[in-house]
Amino acid sequence: MRTLWRFGYSARLLKTNHFRTAASNTSFPAVWILSAQYSGRIPGLFLVVKKNRFFTMPETVEDKANLELYSPHPEVRGMTLLDREAFKRTVVVPVLKVKKEIVNTVLKSLKHTVLQRPGLKRVAEDPEDGDSRLVILDPHKIPGFSLGESEQEILKELNVCPEVSKYNLELTYENFKSEEILRAVLPEGQEVTSGFSRVGHIAHLNLRDHQLPYRHLIGQVIIDKNPGITCVVNKTNIIDSTYRNFQMEVLAGEGNLITKVKENNIAYELDFSKVYWNPRLSTEHSRIVELLKPSDVLFDVFAGIGPFAIPAAKKKCHVFANDLNPESYNWLLHNCKLNKVDNKIKAFNMDGRDFLLGPVREELSKELPLLKEEPKTSFHIVMNLPALAIEFLDVFRHLLVGEPCSTAGLPMVHCYGFSKHDDPAKDIQERAEASLGTSLDGRCSTHLVRNVAPNKEMLCISFQIPADVLYKRPCPDEGKPASKRLRASKDSSEEKLLS
Ligand SMILES: C[S@@+](CC[C@H](N)C(=O)[O-])C[C@H]1O[C@@H](n2cnc3c(N)ncnc32)[C@H](O)[C@@H]1O
Repeated sequence: MRTLWRFGYSARLLKTNHFRTAASNTSFPAVWILSAQYSGRIPGLFLVVKKNRFFTMPETVEDKANLELYSPHPEVRGMTLLDREAFKRTVVVPVLKVKKEIVNTVLKSLKHTVLQRPGLKRVAEDPEDGDSRLVILDPHKIPGFSLGESEQEILKELNVCPEVSKYNLELTYENFKSEEILRAVLPEGQEVTSGFSRVGHIAHLNLRDHQLPYRHLIGQVIIDKNPGITCVVNKTNIIDSTYRNFQMEVLAGEGNLITKVKENNIAYELDFSKVYWNPRLSTEHSRIVELLKPSDVLFDVFAGIGPFAIPAAKKKCHVFANDLNPESYNWLLHNCKLNKVDNKIKAFNMDGRDFLLGPVREELSKELPLLKEEPKTSFHIVMNLPALAIEFLDVFRHLLVGEPCSTAGLPMVHCYGFSKHDDPAKDIQERAEASLGTSLDGRCSTHLVRNVAPNKEMLCISFQIPADVLYKRPCPDEGKPASKRLRASKDSSEEKLLS
């Protein structure tokens, strides 16, 4: 029904020309007769007998037709309230008349020449001949509306006349891509972006000022064109809140921001307006989790809703996960249950510094002295709060007291940071060194996680906490007179400076 309306042949046929190609004149006499009969029956349809394949409509008309294929009706420019009907337009396209029994074979053989547009049927009824169908071709693939030699060869084998006719095809809102729709609506010459991040059923945009008057329309177009998206939000401030979530405006669709996502085969539920979730971190999450072995211990200082913690627990690691945001903490608990790892994860809702000074210190003090020379268990500390985490590294200075564990047992830190520096790896390393109070030369690695914005990178620096940073050794000369103790401590700071 819809197809007929869209391709309504006789009603929409303006001037339909059959074109004969250079190779077609002798090969298909039977079809020639048929074409001649057509020309008498359909008003406005006439046969062009010129053999020159470049003899078609004037170039400019062809070009316009081709452009129109990708541009909705020009009257939509400046529209702020979506009126789908206004996008309709009629374009001239080539069609090939084919017996209905072999339509599928022709479609397969000419698949690169057939017109592909969203929601568009590739075959139309032929109202003049119930036994035939009209295969809609892409004008871009048929310069001059005449088939190339290879297509003609294919058709010859199928005993199909290679003549193409011109048809008026009605394109509707459904047949345009979202970018084409937005390009037609937004002011000419200004950037049109239909890019978004997807979090479950939510599309998340970051619109520029010039796009704001069109924001509701943009939201609706995204819903229309992306199955599964039922809510579109726009970020209304930069992500600088303590909890790394941002304020947002619902532009279109339902206002429900509780959603479900899947990352690396693990399901998470979350309220997108209250917690941090970034689908661009999935590779990084799995990169870190791959470093872990079953029975390793993971301390996740800024855990969010658990994208490091839960896969690590699934891998049978012992996990301590913390987040300051009570909403994140609650969703973390929820997701632990959802993924049946609540017995493997101890969750905390405190400041990262308190978490390191409390539960992390306690666990390390208990477990590190028990490690053998070649320990089976590794301890990893993940710190994904790129705007601030490096500043937390000073917590490791003398976090533990006593004899250092074996070098192999020293905990491994994976700390994230942003850098706008020319040499971001060097920048991150220097900032980590300043915070730790020691050089990491030759004992750290940096990994580029992603480009966050032009000239802004997110990196991860990984290193084992040096024993002299992590451990405060009991002072051997405790109990000596104060003057001697002072001398000893001066010597040791000079030593540190020299080393
Ligand atoms: C960038 S998100 C990372 C979340 C998660 N680890 C991930 O990879 O998706 C940082 C998280 O740190 C939490 N956070 C911010 N400041 C904190 C602090 N001082 N102590 C603990 N958590 C904090 C935020 O609530 C947020 O969930």
